[in-house]
Amino acid sequence: MTSMTNMNTTSVWRGTAPEEDFPALHENCTTDIVIVGGGMTGISLALNLAEQGRPVILLEARDIGFGATGNSTGNLYETLSRGIHRIVDSWGKDVARSVAAARRQALDQIEHRVQALGIECGFRRCRLYRYAATENARAFVENEYEGSVDAGLSVHLVETLPAPLLQPSGAAMVLDGQAQFHPQAYVRALARRAADLGCRIFKNSQILEVDTDRRVVRTASGKVAAREIVLATHSPKGFHAVQAEMVVNREYGLAARIPRGSFPPGIFWETGTGRLSVRNADTGEESFLVCVGEEHKTGQQDTHASIERLESAAQARFGMREAVFRWSAQNYSPADGLPYIGRDASGCFIATGFETDGLIYGAVASSIISDQIAGRDNLFAPLVRASRFSPVKGARGLAEETAVTLKSLVKDYVTDRESIPLSQLPLRKGAIVEVENELLAAYRNPDGTVIAVSPVCTHMKCKVHWNDMESSWDCPCHGSRFAPDGTVIEGPATEALQQKPLVET
Ligand SMILES: Cc1cc2nc3c(=O)[nH]c(=O)nc-3n(C[C@H](O)[C@H](O)[C@H](O)COP(=O)(O)OP(=O)(O)OC[C@H]3O[C@@H](n4cnc5c(N)ncnc54)[C@H](O)[C@@H]3O)c2cc1C
Ligand code: FES
Repeated sequence: MTSMTNMNTTSVWRGTAPEEDFPALHENCTTDIVIVGGGMTGISLALNLAEQGRPVILLEARDIGFGATGNSTGNLYETLSRGIHRIVDSWGKDVARSVAAARRQALDQIEHRVQALGIECGFRRCRLYRYAATENARAFVENEYEGSVDAGLSVHLVETLPAPLLQPSGAAMVLDGQAQFHPQAYVRALARRAADLGCRIFKNSQILEVDTDRRVVRTASGKVAAREIVLATHSPKGFHAVQAEMVVNREYGLAARIPRGSFPPGIFWETGTGRLSVRNADTGEESFLVCVGEEHKTGQQDTHASIERLESAAQARFGMREAVFRWSAQNYSPADGLPYIGRDASGCFIATGFETDGLIYGAVASSIISDQIAGRDNLFAPLVRASRFSPVKGARGLAEETAVTLKSLVKDYVTDRESIPLSQLPLRKGAIVEVENELLAAYRNPDGTVIAVSPVCTHMKCKVHWNDMESSWDCPCHGSRFAPDGTVIEGPATEALQQKPLVET
Protein backbone atom coordinates (compact mmCIF):
# COMPACT_ATOMS: atom_id res chain seq x y z
CA MET A 1 0.00 0.00 0.00
CA THR A 2 1.08 3.59 -0.71
CA SER A 3 2.38 5.78 2.11
CA MET A 4 -0.52 7.97 3.17
CA THR A 5 1.35 10.91 4.61
CA ASN A 6 0.77 14.00 2.47
CA MET A 7 -0.66 11.81 -0.28
CA ASN A 8 -2.02 13.51 -3.37
CA THR A 9 -5.77 13.67 -2.74
CA THR A 10 -6.97 14.67 -6.21
CA SER A 11 -10.08 12.90 -7.46
CA VAL A 12 -10.16 11.04 -10.77
CA TRP A 13 -12.52 13.76 -12.09
CA ARG A 14 -10.38 16.73 -11.08
CA GLY A 15 -7.29 14.90 -12.29
CA THR A 16 -8.67 14.23 -15.77
CA ALA A 17 -10.77 17.29 -16.75
CA PRO A 18 -9.35 20.31 -18.58
CA GLU A 19 -8.97 23.54 -16.55
CA GLU A 20 -11.31 26.46 -17.20
CA ASP A 21 -9.58 29.81 -16.90
CA PHE A 22 -11.42 32.57 -15.06
CA PRO A 23 -9.92 35.63 -13.34
CA ALA A 24 -10.03 36.49 -9.62
CA LEU A 25 -12.17 39.39 -8.40
CA HIS A 26 -10.12 42.62 -8.06
CA GLU A 27 -12.86 45.26 -8.14
CA ASN A 28 -16.05 46.45 -6.47
CA CYS A 29 -19.13 45.84 -8.57
CA THR A 30 -22.91 45.72 -8.54
CA THR A 31 -25.16 43.13 -10.13
CA ASP A 32 -28.64 41.67 -9.90
CA ILE A 33 -27.71 38.24 -8.43
CA VAL A 34 -24.44 37.10 -6.86
CA ILE A 35 -23.88 33.36 -6.53
CA VAL A 36 -21.20 32.15 -4.11
CA GLY A 37 -19.85 28.70 -5.03
CA GLY A 38 -18.93 27.05 -8.32
CA GLY A 39 -20.21 23.48 -7.84
CA MET A 40 -23.20 21.70 -9.38
CA THR A 41 -25.69 24.01 -7.63
CA GLY A 42 -23.99 27.36 -8.30
CA ILE A 43 -22.96 26.65 -11.88
CA SER A 44 -26.34 25.14 -12.89
CA LEU A 45 -28.08 28.17 -11.40
CA ALA A 46 -25.68 30.60 -13.09
CA LEU A 47 -26.50 29.04 -16.45
CA ASN A 48 -30.27 29.07 -15.79
CA LEU A 49 -30.12 32.78 -14.91
CA ALA A 50 -27.75 33.67 -17.76
CA GLU A 51 -30.12 31.93 -20.21
CA GLN A 52 -32.89 34.16 -18.84
CA GLY A 53 -30.71 37.23 -19.49
CA ARG A 54 -30.26 38.10 -15.78
CA PRO A 55 -27.08 39.95 -14.72
CA VAL A 56 -25.16 37.43 -12.58
CA ILE A 57 -21.76 37.24 -10.91
CA LEU A 58 -20.43 33.91 -9.60
CA LEU A 59 -17.59 33.83 -7.07
CA GLU A 60 -15.72 30.59 -6.43
CA ALA A 61 -13.17 30.30 -3.60
CA ARG A 62 -10.81 28.10 -5.57
CA ASP A 63 -11.65 26.40 -8.85
CA ILE A 64 -14.87 25.30 -10.60
CA GLY A 65 -15.83 21.88 -9.17
CA PHE A 66 -13.36 22.17 -6.26
CA GLY A 67 -15.96 21.11 -3.67
CA ALA A 68 -18.06 17.97 -3.41
CA THR A 69 -19.03 18.10 -7.10
CA GLY A 70 -15.53 17.36 -8.40
CA ASN A 71 -15.03 14.80 -5.65
CA SER A 72 -18.26 12.84 -6.04
CA THR A 73 -18.93 9.51 -7.77
CA GLY A 74 -20.65 11.10 -10.78
CA ASN A 75 -23.82 9.01 -10.55
CA LEU A 76 -27.23 10.49 -11.43
CA TYR A 77 -30.37 8.79 -10.13
CA GLU A 78 -34.00 9.36 -9.22
CA THR A 79 -33.77 7.52 -5.91
CA LEU A 80 -31.73 8.34 -2.76
CA SER A 81 -28.51 6.64 -1.75
CA ARG A 82 -29.56 6.03 1.87
CA GLY A 83 -32.87 4.61 0.66
CA ILE A 84 -36.07 6.22 -0.54
CA HIS A 85 -37.97 3.92 1.85
CA ARG A 86 -36.83 6.27 4.63
CA ILE A 87 -38.79 9.09 2.98
CA VAL A 88 -41.82 6.79 2.58
CA ASP A 89 -41.57 5.82 6.27
CA SER A 90 -41.21 9.35 7.57
CA TRP A 91 -43.15 11.51 5.09
CA GLY A 92 -45.45 9.06 3.29
CA LYS A 93 -45.81 7.81 -0.27
CA ASP A 94 -46.92 11.10 -1.85
CA VAL A 95 -43.83 12.97 -0.68
CA ALA A 96 -41.58 10.11 -1.78
CA ARG A 97 -43.24 10.26 -5.22
CA SER A 98 -42.65 14.03 -5.38
CA VAL A 99 -38.98 13.53 -4.49
CA ALA A 100 -38.55 10.90 -7.20
CA ALA A 101 -40.42 13.03 -9.77
CA ALA A 102 -38.37 16.18 -9.04
CA ARG A 103 -35.17 14.17 -9.31
CA ARG A 104 -36.30 12.47 -12.55
CA GLN A 105 -37.04 15.86 -14.09
CA ALA A 106 -33.61 17.19 -13.05
CA LEU A 107 -31.88 14.13 -14.53
CA ASP A 108 -33.74 14.68 -17.82
CA GLN A 109 -32.68 18.34 -17.79
CA ILE A 110 -29.03 17.36 -17.33
CA GLU A 111 -29.29 14.98 -20.28
CA HIS A 112 -30.96 17.66 -22.37
CA ARG A 113 -28.14 20.12 -21.57
CA VAL A 114 -25.48 17.55 -22.42
CA GLN A 115 -27.11 16.95 -25.80
CA ALA A 116 -28.03 20.57 -26.60
CA LEU A 117 -24.56 21.90 -25.74
CA GLY A 118 -22.64 18.87 -27.04
CA ILE A 119 -20.86 18.46 -23.69
CA GLU A 120 -18.20 15.74 -23.69
CA CYS A 121 -18.65 14.37 -20.18
CA GLY A 122 -19.24 10.66 -20.78
CA PHE A 123 -22.97 10.97 -20.01
CA ARG A 124 -24.65 7.60 -20.43
CA ARG A 125 -27.91 6.07 -19.29
CA CYS A 126 -27.42 2.91 -17.21
CA ARG A 127 -28.95 0.65 -14.59
CA LEU A 128 -28.66 1.18 -10.86
CA TYR A 129 -28.15 -2.01 -8.84
CA ARG A 130 -28.66 -2.14 -5.09
CA TYR A 131 -27.72 -5.39 -3.41
CA ALA A 132 -26.70 -7.02 -0.14
CA ALA A 133 -23.23 -8.47 0.36
CA THR A 134 -24.28 -10.27 3.55
CA GLU A 135 -27.33 -12.08 4.87
CA ASN A 136 -27.89 -9.32 7.45
CA ALA A 137 -28.17 -6.64 4.79
CA ARG A 138 -30.94 -8.41 2.86
CA ALA A 139 -33.72 -6.78 4.88
CA PHE A 140 -32.44 -3.33 3.84
CA VAL A 141 -32.64 -4.24 0.14
CA GLU A 142 -36.11 -5.76 0.62
CA ASN A 143 -37.36 -2.61 2.40
CA GLU A 144 -35.85 -0.48 -0.28
CA TYR A 145 -37.55 -2.49 -3.02
CA GLU A 146 -40.95 -1.94 -1.37
CA GLY A 147 -40.17 1.73 -0.70
CA SER A 148 -39.15 2.21 -4.34
CA VAL A 149 -42.43 0.73 -5.56
CA ASP A 150 -44.30 3.05 -3.17
CA ALA A 151 -42.31 6.00 -4.53
CA GLY A 152 -43.38 5.12 -8.07
CA LEU A 153 -39.95 3.98 -9.23
CA SER A 154 -39.97 1.23 -11.84
CA VAL A 155 -37.79 -1.30 -10.06
CA HIS A 156 -37.44 -5.03 -10.54
CA LEU A 157 -35.42 -7.82 -8.93
CA VAL A 158 -32.66 -9.94 -10.45
CA GLU A 159 -30.81 -12.95 -9.05
CA THR A 160 -27.33 -12.23 -10.42
CA LEU A 161 -25.03 -9.28 -11.00
CA PRO A 162 -22.99 -8.77 -14.17
CA ALA A 163 -19.44 -10.19 -14.04
CA PRO A 164 -16.96 -9.56 -12.50
CA LEU A 165 -19.13 -8.55 -9.52
CA LEU A 166 -19.53 -11.17 -6.81
CA GLN A 167 -23.00 -12.60 -6.50
CA PRO A 168 -25.28 -10.90 -3.95
CA SER A 169 -26.92 -12.37 -0.89
CA GLY A 170 -30.55 -12.61 -2.00
CA ALA A 171 -32.00 -10.76 -4.96
CA ALA A 172 -30.58 -7.48 -6.24
CA MET A 173 -32.85 -4.54 -6.96
CA VAL A 174 -32.54 -2.87 -10.37
CA LEU A 175 -33.65 0.63 -11.33
CA ASP A 176 -33.45 1.21 -15.09
CA GLY A 177 -32.82 4.50 -16.90
CA GLN A 178 -30.42 6.13 -14.44
CA ALA A 179 -27.19 7.80 -15.61
CA GLN A 180 -23.50 8.50 -15.06
CA PHE A 181 -21.20 11.29 -16.18
CA HIS A 182 -17.89 13.02 -15.50
CA PRO A 183 -19.04 15.68 -13.00
CA GLN A 184 -16.01 17.93 -13.37
CA ALA A 185 -16.20 18.00 -17.18
CA TYR A 186 -19.93 18.77 -16.95
CA VAL A 187 -19.71 21.73 -14.55
CA ARG A 188 -16.73 23.20 -16.35
CA ALA A 189 -18.62 23.08 -19.67
CA LEU A 190 -21.67 24.70 -18.03
CA ALA A 191 -19.48 27.41 -16.53
CA ARG A 192 -17.99 28.21 -19.95
CA ARG A 193 -21.48 28.39 -21.48
CA ALA A 194 -22.78 30.66 -18.67
CA ALA A 195 -19.76 32.95 -19.18
CA ASP A 196 -20.42 33.05 -22.94
CA LEU A 197 -23.97 34.19 -22.13
CA GLY A 198 -22.68 37.06 -19.99
CA CYS A 199 -22.34 35.62 -16.48
CA ARG A 200 -19.16 37.02 -14.88
CA ILE A 201 -17.28 34.17 -13.19
CA PHE A 202 -14.39 34.73 -10.80
CA LYS A 203 -12.34 31.93 -9.32
CA ASN A 204 -9.77 32.11 -6.51
CA SER A 205 -12.24 34.57 -4.97
CA GLN A 206 -13.15 33.37 -1.52
CA ILE A 207 -15.97 35.21 0.24
CA LEU A 208 -14.76 36.39 3.65
CA GLU A 209 -17.92 38.24 4.67
CA VAL A 210 -21.59 38.15 3.75
CA ASP A 211 -23.45 41.32 4.78
CA THR A 212 -27.05 40.16 4.54
CA ASP A 213 -28.49 43.57 5.56
CA ARG A 214 -26.70 45.60 2.91
CA ARG A 215 -26.66 42.66 0.43
CA VAL A 216 -22.91 42.76 -0.13
CA VAL A 217 -20.35 39.94 -0.25
CA ARG A 218 -16.66 40.68 0.23
CA THR A 219 -13.47 38.90 -0.84
CA ALA A 220 -9.90 39.93 0.11
CA SER A 221 -9.68 42.09 -3.02
CA GLY A 222 -13.19 43.15 -3.98
CA LYS A 223 -16.89 43.40 -3.17
CA VAL A 224 -20.10 42.59 -4.99
CA ALA A 225 -23.37 44.33 -4.13
CA ALA A 226 -26.45 42.50 -5.41
CA ARG A 227 -30.23 42.43 -5.06
CA GLU A 228 -30.07 38.69 -4.28
CA ILE A 229 -27.33 36.58 -2.67
CA VAL A 230 -27.24 32.82 -3.28
CA LEU A 231 -24.98 30.75 -1.01
CA ALA A 232 -24.31 27.70 -3.19
CA THR A 233 -21.46 26.74 -0.90
CA HIS A 234 -22.66 23.22 0.02
CA SER A 235 -23.06 24.33 3.64
CA PRO A 236 -24.11 28.01 3.86
CA LYS A 237 -21.43 30.41 5.12
CA GLY A 238 -21.81 31.95 8.57
CA PHE A 239 -24.60 31.14 11.03
CA HIS A 240 -27.76 29.46 9.72
CA ALA A 241 -30.29 27.48 11.73
CA VAL A 242 -29.98 24.50 9.39
CA GLN A 243 -26.40 23.89 10.54
CA ALA A 244 -27.70 22.73 13.92
CA GLU A 245 -29.90 20.15 12.18
CA MET A 246 -27.31 18.57 9.89
CA VAL A 247 -24.82 15.78 10.50
CA VAL A 248 -21.56 16.21 8.57
CA ASN A 249 -19.76 13.15 7.18
CA ARG A 250 -16.63 12.55 5.14
CA GLU A 251 -16.36 9.74 2.65
CA TYR A 252 -13.44 8.37 0.62
CA GLY A 253 -12.86 7.65 -3.06
CA LEU A 254 -10.38 5.53 -5.03
CA ALA A 255 -9.78 5.10 -8.75
CA ALA A 256 -7.55 2.46 -10.36
CA ARG A 257 -6.77 1.96 -14.05
CA ILE A 258 -8.47 -1.06 -15.62
CA PRO A 259 -8.57 -2.45 -19.18
CA ARG A 260 -11.37 -0.73 -21.13
CA GLY A 261 -14.54 -2.84 -21.19
CA SER A 262 -13.48 -5.02 -18.24
CA PHE A 263 -16.16 -3.62 -15.89
CA PRO A 264 -19.82 -3.19 -16.91
CA PRO A 265 -21.55 0.21 -17.07
CA GLY A 266 -23.90 0.80 -14.14
CA ILE A 267 -24.25 2.19 -10.65
CA PHE A 268 -23.51 -0.58 -8.12
CA TRP A 269 -24.44 0.05 -4.48
CA GLU A 270 -23.46 -2.62 -2.02
CA THR A 271 -24.68 -2.77 1.57
CA GLY A 272 -23.55 -5.15 4.26
CA THR A 273 -19.79 -4.59 4.25
CA GLY A 274 -20.27 -0.91 5.06
CA ARG A 275 -21.73 1.17 2.23
CA LEU A 276 -19.79 0.83 -1.03
CA SER A 277 -20.49 2.47 -4.38
CA VAL A 278 -18.59 1.22 -7.42
CA ARG A 279 -18.63 2.18 -11.09
CA ASN A 280 -16.41 2.33 -14.10
CA ALA A 281 -15.43 5.62 -15.79
CA ASP A 282 -13.89 6.07 -19.22
CA THR A 283 -11.99 9.35 -19.51
CA GLY A 284 -10.24 9.97 -22.83
CA GLU A 285 -7.96 7.02 -23.56
CA GLU A 286 -8.16 5.59 -20.06
CA SER A 287 -10.63 3.50 -18.14
CA PHE A 288 -10.93 3.53 -14.33
CA LEU A 289 -12.66 1.54 -11.64
CA VAL A 290 -14.04 4.02 -9.09
CA CYS A 291 -14.95 2.94 -5.57
CA VAL A 292 -16.40 5.20 -2.85
CA GLY A 293 -17.19 4.38 0.78
CA GLU A 294 -16.00 4.33 4.43
CA GLU A 295 -18.17 7.23 5.55
CA HIS A 296 -17.62 8.67 9.03
CA LYS A 297 -18.49 11.82 10.90
CA THR A 298 -16.13 14.67 10.05
CA GLY A 299 -13.29 15.18 12.52
CA GLN A 300 -14.03 11.95 14.37
CA GLN A 301 -11.93 9.18 12.90
CA ASP A 302 -8.48 8.21 11.77
CA THR A 303 -8.55 9.20 8.09
CA HIS A 304 -5.61 6.92 7.17
CA ALA A 305 -7.34 3.91 8.66
CA SER A 306 -10.53 4.79 6.75
CA ILE A 307 -8.92 4.91 3.31
CA GLU A 308 -6.88 1.80 4.07
CA ARG A 309 -10.09 -0.05 4.92
CA LEU A 310 -11.62 1.17 1.66
CA GLU A 311 -8.57 -0.05 -0.29
CA SER A 312 -8.85 -3.48 1.35
CA ALA A 313 -12.60 -3.70 0.64
CA ALA A 314 -12.16 -2.56 -2.98
CA GLN A 315 -9.48 -5.19 -3.48
CA ALA A 316 -11.48 -7.99 -1.86
CA ARG A 317 -14.87 -7.14 -3.37
CA PHE A 318 -13.96 -5.82 -6.84
CA GLY A 319 -10.38 -6.94 -7.40
CA MET A 320 -9.17 -3.33 -7.46
CA ARG A 321 -5.41 -3.04 -7.88
CA GLU A 322 -3.17 -0.04 -7.09
CA ALA A 323 -5.30 3.13 -6.90
CA VAL A 324 -3.90 6.08 -8.85
CA PHE A 325 -6.39 8.60 -7.41
CA ARG A 326 -7.40 8.79 -3.75
CA TRP A 327 -9.61 11.48 -2.33
CA SER A 328 -12.18 12.41 0.25
CA ALA A 329 -15.21 14.70 0.38
CA GLN A 330 -17.95 15.86 2.69
CA ASN A 331 -21.71 15.46 2.80
CA TYR A 332 -24.41 17.07 4.95
CA SER A 333 -27.35 14.96 6.19
CA PRO A 334 -30.58 16.77 7.05
CA ALA A 335 -32.52 15.84 10.20
CA ASP A 336 -35.70 14.86 8.36
CA GLY A 337 -34.29 13.36 5.15
CA LEU A 338 -35.12 16.27 2.82
CA PRO A 339 -32.71 18.99 1.64
CA TYR A 340 -33.01 22.69 2.54
CA ILE A 341 -33.49 24.82 -0.56
CA GLY A 342 -34.72 28.41 -0.86
CA ARG A 343 -34.63 31.65 1.10
CA ASP A 344 -33.62 31.36 4.76
CA ALA A 345 -34.13 33.68 7.73
CA SER A 346 -31.16 35.85 6.72
CA GLY A 347 -32.80 36.61 3.36
CA CYS A 348 -30.14 34.73 1.35
CA PHE A 349 -30.92 31.71 -0.80
CA ILE A 350 -29.30 28.52 0.46
CA ALA A 351 -29.12 24.95 -0.89
CA THR A 352 -27.81 22.31 1.48
CA GLY A 353 -28.54 18.97 3.22
CA PHE A 354 -28.03 16.99 0.00
CA GLU A 355 -26.43 13.93 1.69
CA THR A 356 -24.68 12.03 -1.11
CA ASP A 357 -27.40 12.79 -3.65
CA GLY A 358 -26.53 16.38 -4.49
CA LEU A 359 -25.57 16.20 -8.15
CA ILE A 360 -29.29 15.84 -8.85
CA TYR A 361 -30.41 17.92 -5.84
CA GLY A 362 -28.00 20.67 -6.99
CA ALA A 363 -29.81 20.73 -10.35
CA VAL A 364 -33.18 20.65 -8.52
CA ALA A 365 -32.01 23.59 -6.36
CA SER A 366 -30.97 25.56 -9.43
CA SER A 367 -34.51 25.23 -10.84
CA ILE A 368 -36.20 26.11 -7.54
CA ILE A 369 -34.02 29.17 -6.89
CA SER A 370 -34.27 30.49 -10.45
CA ASP A 371 -38.06 30.06 -10.28
CA GLN A 372 -38.22 31.86 -6.93
CA ILE A 373 -36.04 34.72 -8.16
CA ALA A 374 -38.33 35.07 -11.20
CA GLY A 375 -41.47 34.86 -9.00
CA ARG A 376 -42.61 31.60 -10.63
CA ASP A 377 -44.30 28.77 -8.73
CA ASN A 378 -42.30 25.60 -8.21
CA LEU A 379 -44.24 22.53 -7.11
CA PHE A 380 -41.35 20.93 -5.18
CA ALA A 381 -40.19 24.11 -3.40
CA PRO A 382 -42.61 24.02 -0.40
CA LEU A 383 -41.43 20.53 0.57
CA VAL A 384 -37.77 21.51 0.85
CA ARG A 385 -38.08 25.08 2.08
CA ALA A 386 -34.99 26.24 3.94
CA SER A 387 -36.89 27.82 6.82
CA ARG A 388 -38.54 24.61 8.13
CA PHE A 389 -37.21 23.28 11.43
CA SER A 390 -39.22 20.55 13.10
CA PRO A 391 -38.54 16.97 12.08
CA VAL A 392 -41.76 15.47 10.69
CA LYS A 393 -43.97 13.20 12.71
CA GLY A 394 -42.94 9.62 12.29
CA ALA A 395 -39.37 10.48 11.27
CA ARG A 396 -38.24 8.57 14.33
CA GLY A 397 -35.37 6.74 12.69
CA LEU A 398 -33.89 9.86 11.19
CA ALA A 399 -34.47 12.05 14.22
CA GLU A 400 -33.04 9.48 16.64
CA GLU A 401 -29.97 9.01 14.52
CA THR A 402 -29.41 12.75 14.49
CA ALA A 403 -29.93 13.02 18.25
CA VAL A 404 -27.38 10.27 18.89
CA THR A 405 -24.93 11.99 16.59
CA LEU A 406 -25.42 15.38 18.19
CA LYS A 407 -24.92 13.86 21.65
CA SER A 408 -21.72 12.20 20.55
CA LEU A 409 -20.57 15.45 18.97
CA VAL A 410 -21.20 17.35 22.19
CA LYS A 411 -19.32 14.72 24.17
CA ASP A 412 -16.55 14.77 21.63
CA TYR A 413 -15.95 18.46 21.46
CA VAL A 414 -16.19 19.30 25.13
CA THR A 415 -13.66 16.59 25.95
CA ASP A 416 -10.13 17.91 25.54
CA ARG A 417 -8.11 15.95 23.04
CA GLU A 418 -4.89 14.46 24.30
CA SER A 419 -1.98 16.76 23.64
CA ILE A 420 1.64 15.79 22.94
CA PRO A 421 4.86 17.69 23.71
CA LEU A 422 5.85 19.91 20.76
CA SER A 423 9.26 18.21 20.59
CA GLN A 424 7.50 14.91 19.70
CA LEU A 425 5.64 16.34 16.70
CA PRO A 426 6.94 14.49 13.60
CA LEU A 427 7.57 16.09 10.19
CA ARG A 428 4.41 16.62 8.06
CA LYS A 429 2.11 15.87 11.01
CA GLY A 430 -0.33 17.95 13.00
CA ALA A 431 -1.33 17.51 16.65
CA ILE A 432 -2.66 19.42 19.63
CA VAL A 433 0.35 20.54 21.67
CA GLU A 434 0.54 22.28 25.02
CA VAL A 435 2.83 25.29 25.16
CA GLU A 436 3.00 27.44 28.32
CA ASN A 437 -0.35 26.07 29.54
CA GLU A 438 -2.04 26.87 26.23
CA LEU A 439 -3.34 24.22 23.81
CA LEU A 440 -2.34 24.91 20.21
CA ALA A 441 -3.00 23.17 16.91
CA ALA A 442 0.52 22.70 15.58
CA TYR A 443 1.82 21.35 12.25
CA ARG A 444 5.46 20.54 11.52
CA ASN A 445 6.56 21.50 7.99
CA PRO A 446 8.87 19.20 5.98
CA ASP A 447 11.76 21.61 6.81
CA GLY A 448 11.17 21.14 10.56
CA THR A 449 9.58 24.53 11.26
CA VAL A 450 6.23 24.63 13.04
CA ILE A 451 3.02 26.50 12.18
CA ALA A 452 0.74 26.94 15.18
CA VAL A 453 -2.87 28.12 15.20
CA SER A 454 -5.66 28.21 17.73
CA PRO A 455 -7.58 24.90 17.87
CA VAL A 456 -10.84 26.83 18.41
CA CYS A 457 -13.02 26.81 15.30
CA THR A 458 -13.96 30.34 14.25
CA HIS A 459 -17.52 29.28 13.40
CA MET A 460 -18.96 28.38 16.82
CA LYS A 461 -15.91 27.54 18.91
CA CYS A 462 -15.72 23.74 18.77
CA LYS A 463 -12.23 22.22 18.79
CA VAL A 464 -10.66 21.15 15.52
CA HIS A 465 -9.08 17.70 14.95
CA TRP A 466 -6.12 16.79 12.74
CA ASN A 467 -6.95 15.03 9.45
CA ASP A 468 -3.78 13.16 8.59
CA MET A 469 -4.73 12.09 5.07
CA GLU A 470 -5.58 15.58 3.84
CA SER A 471 -3.33 17.56 6.20
CA SER A 472 -6.13 19.75 7.50
CA TRP A 473 -7.78 20.77 10.75
CA ASP A 474 -11.37 19.50 10.69
CA CYS A 475 -14.18 20.67 12.96
CA PRO A 476 -16.55 17.92 14.13
CA CYS A 477 -19.47 20.29 14.78
CA HIS A 478 -20.55 21.69 11.39
CA GLY A 479 -17.74 20.53 9.10
CA SER A 480 -15.48 23.57 8.72
CA ARG A 481 -12.02 22.55 7.55
CA PHE A 482 -8.83 24.59 7.73
CA ALA A 483 -5.35 24.34 6.17
CA PRO A 484 -2.35 23.92 8.54
CA ASP A 485 -1.88 27.73 8.46
CA GLY A 486 -5.52 28.18 9.54
CA THR A 487 -6.96 29.27 6.16
CA VAL A 488 -10.56 28.12 5.57
CA ILE A 489 -10.87 25.19 3.11
CA GLU A 490 -14.60 24.47 3.41
CA GLY A 491 -17.63 24.55 5.69
CA PRO A 492 -19.55 27.40 7.28
CA ALA A 493 -16.55 29.25 8.84
CA THR A 494 -15.46 32.40 7.05
CA GLU A 495 -12.55 33.38 9.31
CA ALA A 496 -9.18 31.62 9.47
CA LEU A 497 -8.02 29.93 12.69
CA GLN A 498 -6.07 32.47 14.71
CA GLN A 499 -2.32 32.34 14.08
CA LYS A 500 -0.20 31.67 17.18
CA PRO A 501 3.44 32.71 16.67
CA LEU A 502 5.62 29.99 18.19
CA VAL A 503 9.35 29.86 18.78
CA GLU A 504 10.63 26.35 19.49
CA THR A 505 13.33 26.27 22.13
C1 LIG B 1 -17.75 10.93 -1.71
C2 LIG B 1 -19.01 11.54 -2.26
C3 LIG B 1 -19.59 10.99 -3.40
C4 LIG B 1 -20.76 11.54 -3.93
N1 LIG B 1 -21.30 11.00 -5.04
C5 LIG B 1 -22.45 11.50 -5.53
C6 LIG B 1 -23.06 10.92 -6.68
O1 LIG B 1 -22.56 9.98 -7.27
N2 LIG B 1 -24.24 11.45 -7.09
C7 LIG B 1 -24.83 12.51 -6.46
O2 LIG B 1 -25.90 12.95 -6.87
N3 LIG B 1 -24.24 13.11 -5.40
C8 LIG B 1 -23.07 12.63 -4.93
N4 LIG B 1 -22.49 13.21 -3.85
C9 LIG B 1 -23.04 14.46 -3.32
C10 LIG B 1 -22.70 15.62 -4.26
O3 LIG B 1 -21.35 15.52 -4.68
C11 LIG B 1 -22.91 16.97 -3.59
O4 LIG B 1 -24.11 16.97 -2.86
C12 LIG B 1 -22.96 18.07 -4.63
O5 LIG B 1 -21.81 18.01 -5.44
C13 LIG B 1 -23.08 19.42 -3.97
O6 LIG B 1 -22.94 20.40 -4.96
P1 LIG B 1 -22.86 21.91 -4.51
O7 LIG B 1 -22.63 22.73 -5.73
O8 LIG B 1 -24.04 22.25 -3.68
O9 LIG B 1 -21.59 21.98 -3.54
P2 LIG B 1 -20.04 21.90 -3.93
O10 LIG B 1 -19.80 21.07 -5.12
O11 LIG B 1 -19.31 21.56 -2.68
O12 LIG B 1 -19.71 23.38 -4.36
C14 LIG B 1 -19.61 24.43 -3.42
C15 LIG B 1 -18.53 25.38 -3.91
O13 LIG B 1 -18.54 26.53 -3.07
C16 LIG B 1 -17.21 26.96 -2.96
N5 LIG B 1 -17.10 27.79 -1.75
C17 LIG B 1 -17.18 27.37 -0.45
N6 LIG B 1 -16.97 28.41 0.36
C18 LIG B 1 -16.78 29.51 -0.42
C19 LIG B 1 -16.49 30.87 -0.15
N7 LIG B 1 -16.33 31.33 1.10
N8 LIG B 1 -16.35 31.73 -1.19
C20 LIG B 1 -16.48 31.29 -2.47
N9 LIG B 1 -16.74 29.98 -2.78
C21 LIG B 1 -16.88 29.12 -1.76
C22 LIG B 1 -16.41 25.68 -2.85
O14 LIG B 1 -15.04 25.89 -3.18
C23 LIG B 1 -17.13 24.77 -3.83
O15 LIG B 1 -16.54 24.76 -5.11
C24 LIG B 1 -21.34 12.68 -3.31
C25 LIG B 1 -20.75 13.24 -2.16
C26 LIG B 1 -19.61 12.67 -1.62
C27 LIG B 1 -19.02 13.26 -0.39
S1 FES C 1 -17.92 24.29 12.02
FE1 FES C 1 -19.29 25.06 13.48
S2 FES C 1 -18.08 25.16 15.24
FE2 FES C 1 -16.72 24.49 13.77
